[in-house]
Amino acid sequence: MRVIRTVDELRREVGEARRSGQRVGFVPTMGALHEGHLSLVSAARAASGVVVVSLFVNPTQFNDQADLAAYPRDEERDAALAAGAGADILFAPGVTEMYPDGYATSVHVRGVSEPLEGAHRGASHFDGVATVVTKLLVAVAPDVAWFGQKDAQQVAVVRRLVTDLGLPVRIETAPTVREPDGLAMSSRNMRLTAADRPRALALKAGLDAVAEAVASGADPRGAEAHGVDVMRERGVEPEYLALVDPGSFAPATDLALPSLAVVAAKVGDVRLIDNLPICPQPHTEEPS
Ligand code: PAF
Repeated sequence: MRVIRTVDELRREVGEARRSGQRVGFVPTMGALHEGHLSLVSAARAASGVVVVSLFVNPTQFNDQADLAAYPRDEERDAALAAGAGADILFAPGVTEMYPDGYATSVHVRGVSEPLEGAHRGASHFDGVATVVTKLLVAVAPDVAWFGQKDAQQVAVVRRLVTDLGLPVRIETAPTVREPDGLAMSSRNMRLTAADRPRALALKAGLDAVAEAVASGADPRGAEAHGVDVMRERGVEPEYLALVDPGSFAPATDLALPSLAVVAAKVGDVRLIDNLPICPQPHTEEPS
């Protein structure tokens, strides 16, 4: 695996591979790689001739400077894991390569970026994500880019921008990878204290409670309220727990259509997110 620091060199390398007829798969990351990232790299490996993984802790998507400073960074470890999962190129630019002096452009995706994560982390979060993903997609020019379903709203924002800007790339997702006890894998999990680790399971418990309530015939707001109660019983107050339309992230109103239960909560000092697809319930006839 080659480590590349500049966009020019990346373009040369990927361009050569493309000219030799290889398909290019791309997995953008901020490092601190875990099984979730590696499942994306493996999926890209299986579907492409050349696999590019980016490693860039993007400062513009952090609304909290303490969160940015605390973000785990270990390039040697990440490079070994990416290579082991099948990456051919690790693109690991410095901040000035991505945002040179005088940089002044931002990509803003209206609508889907605004509720939930957008509202709680501030509008600048998804502006930062949309901007860096656009820059990465333009730099790598992959055939397919792979994203984790755990960051479901990020995926929806990226799909919107790819459609709106007409970027010639297919967006693929891979399912959330979980620890054996159900906790969604996240680079932030390593910051949970031993005392907080069991409480982190409240997020999945809240999502499961929403799914059970829907299966029992609850309406969307009733199902959300049940999920919130279950999380509170486990000592965790959600920032939000909502049933949404998976494309627009607007509140779900019709459970005959697929929806997504999404949750965010702080467990100790660590902010976690998770989600669960909710399948439409079979229609049952009212007794006459
Ligand atoms: O999901 C992430 O790790 C980041 O938001 C991404 C897509 C690499 C952009 O910085």
